[in-house]
Amino acid sequence: MTATLETTSTAETPARIEPRDVTFKIRRFIPEIDEEPHWEEYVVSAYPTDRVLDALMKIKGEQDGTLTFRRSCGHGICGSDAMRINGRNRLACKTLIKDLGTGDITVEAIKGLPLEKDLVVDMEPFFAAYRAVKPFLIPEGHEPTKERLQSAEDRAIFDDTTKCILCAACTTSCPVFWTDEQYFGPAAIVAAHRFIFDSRDAAAETRLEILNEKEGVWRCRTTFNCTDACPRGIEVTKAIQQVKRALIFRRV
Ligand code: SF4
Ligand code: F3S
Ligand code: FES
Repeated sequence: MTATLETTSTAETPARIEPRDVTFKIRRFIPEIDEEPHWEEYVVSAYPTDRVLDALMKIKGEQDGTLTFRRSCGHGICGSDAMRINGRNRLACKTLIKDLGTGDITVEAIKGLPLEKDLVVDMEPFFAAYRAVKPFLIPEGHEPTKERLQSAEDRAIFDDTTKCILCAACTTSCPVFWTDEQYFGPAAIVAAHRFIFDSRDAAAETRLEILNEKEGVWRCRTTFNCTDACPRGIEVTKAIQQVKRALIFRRV
């Protein structure tokens, strides 16, 4: 007897996802031409699962090659494409069109750093604050002949702040930083936190003194914008509070 193969399926074919025309309002500024930034509109055919970065690349490739923005990895690792999308700091490569509602999408440069061109800002003040907190291991004693051991419990204390990709989304969403760019800003404090609480490091006191200065942690008003903006989900405000507490109790 010959077996018969049943191929009939009762499952419905999934609905086909269609692209739609999305209007992007981009705040443009070309210093050689413009006196002030201004908004320009571009209509892009995009799928809901496209990212804002995909749309920006499409605009640059097909409509206006002068549109300028930073990006590198395209996958949320390098931290180079933080921008203000629909009024909130996000990474363009991690933001899906479908998560931005059905209306127009606004895109502008992050705030508080000097605007260079279109969506590109001068990151130097941001990295100057980062360098100022000595974001590297400063151990005691001579060069070791084997690895410096650390317990899992000690490593867990600063695990969250190791995830930072230096995108500046936190610092440039902070209202204190907007009005005072001398403020170290949350990203620099996160970088300091990562070493202050590292049991292998011997320079916690130095970093705490740096952050005890007028433009250090005490400028933070616990606004939480930084925590909301962080694409890595780092509890930025909590880290800042831990540094404040360490300064008060000097127990690190
Ligand atoms: Fe970006 Fe988060 Fe690091 Fe701030 S703490 S620079 S938002 S990754
Ligand atoms: Fe600014 Fe974050 Fe403090 S937004 S005020 S650094 S909690
Ligand atoms: Fe690297 Fe977005 S392009 S984080």
